[in-house]
Amino acid sequence: MIGVRLYHDTLADVDRYRDLFELIVVPEFPVTTDEFFLWSDYSGLSLHRMGDRAGIKTPLEALRRRASVVSPLAKAVNATTHPKVLDVMAGLGRDGFSLAMVGCDLCMVEKALPVWALADDCLHRHQIPNVVLHCKDGWDVLCSENIDAEVVYLDAMYPEGKKALPGKEMQYLRDLAGDDNRTIEDWLEGARQVALDRVVLKRRPREAVIGKPAWQVRTKKVRFDVYRPH
Ligand SMILES: C[S@@+](CC[C@H](N)C(=O)[O-])C[C@H]1O[C@@H](n2cnc3c(N)ncnc32)[C@H](O)[C@@H]1O
Repeated sequence: MIGVRLYHDTLADVDRYRDLFELIVVPEFPVTTDEFFLWSDYSGLSLHRMGDRAGIKTPLEALRRRASVVSPLAKAVNATTHPKVLDVMAGLGRDGFSLAMVGCDLCMVEKALPVWALADDCLHRHQIPNVVLHCKDGWDVLCSENIDAEVVYLDAMYPEGKKALPGKEMQYLRDLAGDDNRTIEDWLEGARQVALDRVVLKRRPREAVIGKPAWQVRTKKVRFDVYRPH
């Protein structure tokens, strides 16, 4: 996995990341040849690729837009019952945090340290309730004992080589996540072994349906396939 440095100005609050990244204090946004780097100032943490000043972060506005009990994801997890949800591929945290904001109890896992840091910064900066966020391999969590999640949520990276180029955020996440030698079928099978109530698998509308979901929630851009546990 790529080692990433954290550049920050003197107004940034980066103490919580001191043991996780090499911290470099600079007077302003850095000019660097690092392939990827984190930047923090008074407004929080963002992740950049060389030459990309805008970078990516988890914006609160995007979370607020998604946080509704009638959103397609909330319907798929049955958010009105406030279930315990295990989100084993947390990414920037938008899906998981939006569920937490409508009262679900979230355990979230992200394996790429810089991506985890973006989600962690958002979580603490905005004091999102009902969330525990780990930087780990989600598969290890899925296979560990004492999982008591009603819902397991799977949002894997889309496979490479599709016609449409993925958005910038997905390109960042894909490059930072590295390879995963498990297939989406493996993840689904593993999740169905541990979920107490259901597994929710996020797919693009034209991606193949795996096995027989109990039901689906469809929108133009995304499909949630819902499976019952084994
Ligand atoms: C499509 S993104 C998830 C986006 C997320 N749902 C959101 O709302 O921002 C998939 C994420 O899964 C992470 N990932 C891939 N394999 C993983 C694993 N084995 N354990 C934990 N995270 C993993 C990737 O690093 C990536 O950030």
